[in-house]
Amino acid sequence: MSQQLEQVKALIQLRDKARLGGGQKRIDSQHQKGKYTARERIAMLLDEGSFEEFDMFVTHRCTNFSMEKETFLGDGVVTGYGTIDGRLVYVFAQDFTVFGGSLSESFAMKICKIMDQSMKMGAPVIGINDSGGARIQEGVNALAGYAEIFQRNILASGVVPQISAIFGPCAGGAVYSPALTDFNIMTKGTSYMFLTGPKVVKTVTGEDVTQEQLGGASVHATKSGVAHFAVDTEEEGIKVIRDLLSFLPQNNLEEAPLVPTSDPIDRLDDTLNEIIPDSPNKPYDMYEVIGSIVDDGKFLEVHKDYATNIIVGFARFNGISVGIVANQPKVLAGVLDNNSSRKAARFVRFCDAFNIPLVTLVDVPGFLPGTQQEYGGIILHGAKLLYAYGEATVPKVTVTLRKSYGGAYCVMSSKHLRGDINYAWPTAEIAVMGPSGAIEVLYGKEVAASENPTALAAEKEKEYRDAFANPYNAARYGYIDDVIEPRNTRFRIIRSLQQLATKKLVNPPKKHDNLPL
Ligand code: HXC
Repeated sequence: MSQQLEQVKALIQLRDKARLGGGQKRIDSQHQKGKYTARERIAMLLDEGSFEEFDMFVTHRCTNFSMEKETFLGDGVVTGYGTIDGRLVYVFAQDFTVFGGSLSESFAMKICKIMDQSMKMGAPVIGINDSGGARIQEGVNALAGYAEIFQRNILASGVVPQISAIFGPCAGGAVYSPALTDFNIMTKGTSYMFLTGPKVVKTVTGEDVTQEQLGGASVHATKSGVAHFAVDTEEEGIKVIRDLLSFLPQNNLEEAPLVPTSDPIDRLDDTLNEIIPDSPNKPYDMYEVIGSIVDDGKFLEVHKDYATNIIVGFARFNGISVGIVANQPKVLAGVLDNNSSRKAARFVRFCDAFNIPLVTLVDVPGFLPGTQQEYGGIILHGAKLLYAYGEATVPKVTVTLRKSYGGAYCVMSSKHLRGDINYAWPTAEIAVMGPSGAIEVLYGKEVAASENPTALAAEKEKEYRDAFANPYNAARYGYIDDVIEPRNTRFRIIRSLQQLATKKLVNPPKKHDNLPL
């Protein structure tokens, strides 16, 4: 064998060694936990054969605790690029089989390298997390590595989409990288995220909690909102990432891809003409409306189980990717509260950052009153949503289906917040407040003093309803561009989006805004 052939053979052997990560025993243990390895995950995520790996031969440089005697090629993270549906993406996957996926200085520099590349090329970054956190033997160098990544997450925010999958542990300060990215996907039962683990919690607060109770996928998908998606399996998580990317542009200077559909643009749905119940206090399901109007009924919901009184997610109208924000009358009557305001504000800002038009479906009785909400900062959280809509320069199409009362009217992509097209169904009620509240304020004393308070209240309520509980008062002032037939909603939205395709609107120059955090 020639010297060159021997060198090639040695390279192949080295590559094979690197691909084994921490060794077969640890790979088996990973599988026994119901988890895939870093390389298996990347293979599932990317188009077949598209992965190009970087830095396979990187090792750590730590000499503390005799660490120089224990090195693994690649040092616990697999990085590189590939394609998803033919579009370039950068990816890193932490390899739990090497030092528990813990982060060293070299490990961090590998991640930073692909993040820097993604910024130069304008392509999304996907991080798969499965790690014991900072590599303890490396001390401050590991912490420095994290901070280098955080800095890049911050600069990339709003420039390229950043998606985090959490398929194992993610604890301590390590949680802040996913927190800084746009979407977090967690697997139920095998992943968790918390700043301090159960043992520290017990010592500091005396509280007894399991890892799952403290930071499992279900907790973050329902209570904290940290997880945008909670999935049963890694396969499902990978599918979410691929689906999600199909709705997004590669970067903030591009548009999302147009996905052709055979769903007719003028498809009418007669059921929408009868979906609103006669009683204003009776709910209906906003999902039915969304499913009826979007292309092929396909809706990728974000934060499905968090603050369910508002619905946010991606869909398409005649192939155009949009972000949908919709009040859900079935949950708390669709009221705006702290969590739903924050949830929708973050989504609106994401869409605006990435040139994704917003379609807002309104049925909102107002903001939720009470000390719990006020103490929780509803003034600030509500302002976030107001701010998000007001600063958004993407096309904004709004349809008011039923209620739109008080401050919530202003907030929900109203004309006054530069809504481009604002439609209403004939069932819309746009006023300062609902009839019963208004009658109490205006005629409370009169009603109480009357011989027949119920009859008088009903009479006044009818008077109020006739005057305000309709869309025509707002339409008279041009705050509503048109009152439309519900069954024709899909067509009217598509026409609006087509008309708005060339929209140009620029906010005043500034260093950055001062969103009410
Ligand atoms: C070095 C680590 C490690 C770490 C795990 N390992 N975590 N090595 N630094 N942080 C190694 C283990 O020694 C072991 O090596 C292998 O990874 C697998 O770990 P196990 O404990 O055997 O696995 P498991 O039982 O599944 O438990 C996983 C775990 C546990 C829950 C993640 O390993 C753990 O609690 N690790 C420490 C977590 C932690 O406190 N990290 C620091 C957080 S603070 P061998 O050779 O046996 O395979 C932090 C600060 C970041 O991260 C700040 C950023 C600003």
